[in-house]
Amino acid sequence: MELPDDGPGTVSVRNLTKHFGSVHAVQDLSFDIRPGRVTGFLGPNGSGKTTTLRMLLGLATPTSGTATISGRSYADIPQPLREVGAALEATSFHPGRTGLDHLRTYAPYAGADDARCVGLLEQVGLGPAARRRVGGYSLGMRQRLALATTLLGDPQVLLLDEPSNGLDPEGIRWLRGFLRHLAALGKTVLVSSHMLSEVQQSVDDVVIIAAGRLVHASSMAELSALASTTTLVASPDAAGLKALVASRGWTAHSLGEPPDAPTTPTPSVELDGVTTAEVGAAAFAAGLELHTLMDKSEGLEDIFLRMIASDVDGAAR
Ligand SMILES: Nc1ncnc2c1ncn2[C@@H]1O[C@H](COP(=O)(O)OP(=O)(O)OP(=O)(O)O)[C@@H](O)[C@H]1O
Ligand SMILES: [Mg+2]
Repeated sequence: MELPDDGPGTVSVRNLTKHFGSVHAVQDLSFDIRPGRVTGFLGPNGSGKTTTLRMLLGLATPTSGTATISGRSYADIPQPLREVGAALEATSFHPGRTGLDHLRTYAPYAGADDARCVGLLEQVGLGPAARRRVGGYSLGMRQRLALATTLLGDPQVLLLDEPSNGLDPEGIRWLRGFLRHLAALGKTVLVSSHMLSEVQQSVDDVVIIAAGRLVHASSMAELSALASTTTLVASPDAAGLKALVASRGWTAHSLGEPPDAPTTPTPSVELDGVTTAEVGAAAFAAGLELHTLMDKSEGLEDIFLRMIASDVDGAAR
């Protein structure tokens, strides 16, 4: 992502740093979140996601750096509920109020009328529970109510901290579709998660942090392109294997090398960008005997784990 850009609907974080005593929660973090896209804000537990969102919402003061929405800090937005909808983790509700009354409490600040409150509860699947007390809501129902609250003022920007937490599989699928719908309307949607797999089907962009630092920011497509296809193949016929690889123009590692380990007496190679099916078919056609044919591809989750692990190892914590 190219920097800088702080136009309407853009969320911009610049050299953002937050220390809590000796805890370096966020360190020199810079990224942009753009309108019309769903962005996954990813990082392991304690990596600084919530702290970053709190600074965006003016709930925590940065040690240094800036966090702005449409070029302004949250405190400078005249009608914040109409511009930014935010649901942070551990959102608290008055347990004695009904879901509908909860929305009615915030409605005047968001310019929402009663019909909108009722409609939003329907939209998030809480229609039948609208008049039940929130104290009796399940975790997933509270998440849905928090989402309805963020939408009251029909804001341009949505900042949702782990919104799938507590949702059942149907609820997660519904949420994905709903967030995509909001992005299609041109809204800026940020959704945090500690798992790439939870959001990979529904996000356009990813911002990955570990130990408070940025480790990767790109489109989901660019991240996916980092996933590799690698096939491990072993044959007792080293010359035949070498000839097959050469005839196909495949890129091979350790081709024909005699193995060091006595437990693997068969010459083996790793082939980049070739599937097991392709190797199997080619070996069969060439009459080459294979002793190993194994998918050694690195998937998206592997890449994510490698990214966050390498940074944690390298961080001075
Ligand atoms: N008010 C605070 N006082 C002291 N330390 C804090 C405070 N808030 C956060 N931290 C610390 O800052 C670091 C980042 O925490 P943060 O809650 O931002 O992580 P997170 O990425 O949201 O994690 P999770 O996935 O568990 O929600 C942690 O080490 C946490 O203990
Ligand atoms: Mg958090």
